[in-house]
Amino acid sequence: MSKRHGKHGSKQEWSSGIGFIIACVGSAVGLGNLWKFPYITYENGGGAFVFIYLLAILVVGFPIILGEMIIGRHGHANIFGTFKSLSKDHPFWKGLGIFLISVGALILSFYSVVAGWTLEYFIKSLSGELGGLTVATVGKHFGSFVGNGWKQVFYHTLFMGFTAFIILKGTRRIEQAVKILMPVLFVLIFVIMGISLYNFGAGQSLSFLFDFDFSKLTSHSVLEAVGHAFFTLSLGMGIMIIYGSYLPKKIHVVRAGLWIVFFDTFIALMACMMMYPIIFGTNMEVKESAAMLFTTLTVQFNALPGGGFISAGFYMLVAFAALSSTISLLEPVVSYISEEWRMSRKKATALGAGVIWLLGVGCALSNGASEFFTKLGVMDKLDYFTSNWGLTVGGILISIFAGWILTKQATSSELEYEQSSLSYRGWLFCVRYLSPLFVLIVILYKLNLF
Ligand code: TRP
Repeated sequence: MSKRHGKHGSKQEWSSGIGFIIACVGSAVGLGNLWKFPYITYENGGGAFVFIYLLAILVVGFPIILGEMIIGRHGHANIFGTFKSLSKDHPFWKGLGIFLISVGALILSFYSVVAGWTLEYFIKSLSGELGGLTVATVGKHFGSFVGNGWKQVFYHTLFMGFTAFIILKGTRRIEQAVKILMPVLFVLIFVIMGISLYNFGAGQSLSFLFDFDFSKLTSHSVLEAVGHAFFTLSLGMGIMIIYGSYLPKKIHVVRAGLWIVFFDTFIALMACMMMYPIIFGTNMEVKESAAMLFTTLTVQFNALPGGGFISAGFYMLVAFAALSSTISLLEPVVSYISEEWRMSRKKATALGAGVIWLLGVGCALSNGASEFFTKLGVMDKLDYFTSNWGLTVGGILISIFAGWILTKQATSSELEYEQSSLSYRGWLFCVRYLSPLFVLIVILYKLNLF
């Protein structure tokens, strides 16, 4: 058994249930909610896409999040070590451990680049450089920023540096930071959303989000909606396994899971209601939709008195939300290297973060800065493959592991349900059949197999 001991990690345990929930919310809420969800929903035509996304959260996300947490608490080690010990050294499950950790590393490489953008926008808000931008010019401004190679690499490097620094300090630091900043971010989003709705009304945005027009759905958008459900909940690569492994026995995982899913979904929908009214209300042309987080709001901030400061505050908080997510992407890599390769946490962090940084440089240069990387579309491809294929396939396998490999005795006691109870049987049905089948159907549909 690769139990934790000595300097390889005995200090790691959450101080309280709330601390755990906050850290998980910190991991889940990030650029996925604020940057990615609004823009992919926009690209996929809203309505039906949102429906599939919500359905996936419910029938796949929630059961699997519980599955991950109990696998983690049961195994009490890094992702690889957990699968290794719980499957009694089975090569397939050990391979899955490596696969999940690699997917996380790939996600982090491009995630850190986008997170870096928030730093630049923070600085530019303060310096007043965003001040003169209008509906017509915000897009161009963004385009020239992402086309600047040095800046891209610089901010990416800075962000990876922050992430590595926190990882070295252990999980307590994650808790402390997230505990204060998440609620502030939440309030600020709420206020900005209020201003958008006040200025432009909710009508068109609400009907865009919730008028379910299924004729718009393609197999691509269905896969993307499901992939995003995994991405946004930090599922399908074992984050919750690793966080769950630090979880004391006394905490009720179902309640924790419910909170995480609720907050995450709520913030994603609020993010849309913060940006869409501006797009619809000003007839903004959304050519580069990936820039939405940076373009729509700039227009709004510029119309407000003291907008530069609000803008700076906002991007700083988004940077923190991203940081609490990047931490959760680096932690699996570092705990794997330090526990399995018996390296000090410091060396493991340097190695893991270094390799990911290098990959990220390719992403940073792929938005116009380098012709070669732009043509390859490194960042878009990495995002596409990891979110839509890596996480979904990882997720099904984790679900199968929780449902079929762990004993009922273990899972029911971790969930604190009687085996005969409806809640337990409902969960087991989901992780054994419903969730894997749902994802499988989506994948087969995408592959045009029916
Ligand atoms: N969920 C985060 C977001 O929405 C991103 C993230 C953090 C993530 N850890 C993850 C995505 C693990 C997939 C897997 O921004």
